[in-house]
Amino acid sequence: MASPSDNRLDLTSGLLGTHVEEKSATITWQDGHRTVLPTLYDKSGHNVCEEVDIPIIKFLSEFPISTPESASWVAHVPYEMLSHDTMLDVIGKALSINKTIVIRGEKVPQRSEELTADFLDKRFTISKHRPVCIHDVMMRSCDHVNMKITGTIGSFFDAMVDSTRIQCILDLPLAQTSLPDQLRNIDHGLAYGWSQTTHRVPITSKVHPENFMVRGWGILHHAGYLSYPHHNAEGTLTWLRMELGVKFWVVFRPKNHRDDRKHLQEFVTRLVDFTNHEEWVRKHCDAEVIVLRPGDIVIMPPGTVHAVYTPVPSFATGGHFYHYMCLHLTELARYIDSEAADSTTNQDLEHALETLRRMMIMVPYLSLRTVLYKRPLLGLCIMVTKTEEYRAKGSSKQSAAKSETSQPSRDVAEVIMRKCFRLTRKLRPGAVMRIFIYLCTVIFIILSAELSPPKATGVSGIGVIYK
Ligand SMILES: [Fe+2]
Repeated sequence: MASPSDNRLDLTSGLLGTHVEEKSATITWQDGHRTVLPTLYDKSGHNVCEEVDIPIIKFLSEFPISTPESASWVAHVPYEMLSHDTMLDVIGKALSINKTIVIRGEKVPQRSEELTADFLDKRFTISKHRPVCIHDVMMRSCDHVNMKITGTIGSFFDAMVDSTRIQCILDLPLAQTSLPDQLRNIDHGLAYGWSQTTHRVPITSKVHPENFMVRGWGILHHAGYLSYPHHNAEGTLTWLRMELGVKFWVVFRPKNHRDDRKHLQEFVTRLVDFTNHEEWVRKHCDAEVIVLRPGDIVIMPPGTVHAVYTPVPSFATGGHFYHYMCLHLTELARYIDSEAADSTTNQDLEHALETLRRMMIMVPYLSLRTVLYKRPLLGLCIMVTKTEEYRAKGSSKQSAAKSETSQPSRDVAEVIMRKCFRLTRKLRPGAVMRIFIYLCTVIFIILSAELSPPKATGVSGIGVIYK
């Protein structure tokens, strides 16, 4: 462990009495980082963060800090490695076996800049007058469903130096992304699904303009904000880049039964309600803590359960996307959401199915360079043919509604399931569970094969896709 006198490890200085309560307690993480614990007093002088926030942060701080040497399910990639031609495939492969990616060391010219409303305006064209939805910790302590207030970027920054407020803004759509150039094609939903299928199937239904205009989002936090354990909606992958500040990004994993869907579902639902299931969670849950500083990038596979503690004022950019190599994990995450999304995720993504359908339509047209594996391909086929079974619990019927892509995507899926998986209509009379059993067999075969990477042939038409 590094010396506690290391200034870089002390994340409390300059905050006490200004950004956070002067008497805030502190906590030391496994690598020696010292941070404040959130403190907000109610009218009777009670710290409202003591019931939920602080027990979770203490739990998070018990887990090891992820390093290139220690990491078990986090792959650390030096920034310079991104220039290798094959790096995108290597990252895709690591994500497909459920590894979170951390990319360190990008040079950020503005690293010494302060987090201010002017910084956001100058760097990201976010006006300080724009209305925003603000999540408020004091309100969350009373009612975790109704925890939002309306304000502006300017009012949020005013509250940043008010030690009686801890807040965050989770949804600042950005027209530009800040992923490194080498990763710009990692979003297969956009690069293939939306960009290359509109000639074959023109867009005629109402599609939210965010599909094309918004390439990512910004998130803005006061010091002391805890994002509770959750997984992101609709089985998307998530990337995030720290712009200013520090985050303790914690990824969870079950200790055992990792292929058992019911256990995974129970794992997520108990973890999101940590304080009522602490004993069970401690018995079944493992985790790794990724410390993110400016320039660091994290990319999570679909369905990764994570919690994030932000101990200093911070701004990060990020985005959600789909990837052809990870669609089996997308299928699993959406399966879990279909029964528990109202408690396990933190947002709605109504356009998800439309993106998946267009990725299916694109399959026959993919070039030989694009690698497809059986397991994710079968996952995609199931999701576009059994759309209702994968509608997130609590979401609107519209999210699984028919559109111009429904039939073409089903047609492609039918051919693939018949030709490649020997699944005919007769064999699957609407029984999605039967397909799951088959899927489990495929998973077993492919897991065995993963020890020596599968020989994936490329794609040049549906008939020659798979090995
Ligand atoms: Fe998240």
